Amino acid sequence: MNNFNNLVDMDDYTVPQWNEIIGLAEKIKANPEEYSEKCRGKIMATLFYEPSTRTQMSFQAAMIRLGGNIIGFDNPGNSSVAKGENLKDTIKIVSTYSDILVMRHTQEGSAKAAALVADCHVINAGDGGHLHPTQTLTDLLTLKCELGRLDNLTVGLCGDLKYGRTVHSLVKALSCYPNNKFVLISTPDLALPSYIKDVIRARGSEFTEVNTIDEAIKDLDMLYMTRIQRERFADDSEYERQKDVYCLTKAKMQYARKDMIVMHPLPRVNEIEVAVDDDPRAAYFRQANNGMYVRMALILYTMTREPKIKPLLVGEIHKDIACTNPKCVTRTEEYLPHSFINRGDILVCEYCDERILL
Ligand code: NCD
Repeated sequence: MNNFNNLVDMDDYTVPQWNEIIGLAEKIKANPEEYSEKCRGKIMATLFYEPSTRTQMSFQAAMIRLGGNIIGFDNPGNSSVAKGENLKDTIKIVSTYSDILVMRHTQEGSAKAAALVADCHVINAGDGGHLHPTQTLTDLLTLKCELGRLDNLTVGLCGDLKYGRTVHSLVKALSCYPNNKFVLISTPDLALPSYIKDVIRARGSEFTEVNTIDEAIKDLDMLYMTRIQRERFADDSEYERQKDVYCLTKAKMQYARKDMIVMHPLPRVNEIEVAVDDDPRAAYFRQANNGMYVRMALILYTMTREPKIKPLLVGEIHKDIACTNPKCVTRTEEYLPHSFINRGDILVCEYCDERILL
């Protein structure tokens, strides 16, 4: 049982709760000074096992702007991780020093593994190529600020839809609002994982798959560009084949609607030409700024809401079955119970969503 307000996946909160956090972020953005003492005396730990600029610093700035303090590391090589400490022990200890723990980690399912042992609230700031819920809150706030709505949208998602965790969380969230349609723009090798397509279908949203930006751009309310996630490829020659396939140029923007916006979680590598930055429809720098306000709202919400006691693992424990995903946290953190949701002919890993055929 867990009685903390964890955000491992967007599903940890309901759609009305997401709307509440976004609404709070809008209020904070309009009047940040009013919130400057709300977390006085509180401590947030940021444990970043992977590189980050925006997520880490916007979380830190958010806590400081709420009057709180921060501890943590941005290089596990400078912590006892370098001496071989496992995730469990690091989280167990740091969570007793802090009120809220924000973690980014290389392994899929690591945020759930951290929440299982933590003595404070845990926020997932990205677990490998799996999920990134706080980027999604940033993206939802940006859509709300820029377009005024989260429903009736035609959204194009372009680039690395396979390993792009921001895409996974965003698509799952937007499919919970009515009448959103998705145009998935990728090469066949970097297509959206089938388990996420199943979520879209199950929630009754439509999607189409295309290979080029040109085929899709004129119909979109929002185009979400993404970086090819080099660090997730097993082999660099595969990355070399995929990189630079998509580039949003000023020339392509001529075919987009006047009210379409371009979003990108950033960092950008080559997928948006710098000349596009001056187009008023380029919303990605405003989006990054929204990340700080939404994280202020999330921290405040997490700290003040009465926790709902619930189990973190609800599946069957199979000691003798290992998750087949080599990037799953259970592959290295050997003490973790092997927990799966039984769907008849498949087992779904409760940490990383890998499907195992029985
Ligand atoms: C993204 C991430 O880390 O997944 N960045 C971010 O959090 N803003 C996207 C990326 O790294 O490409």
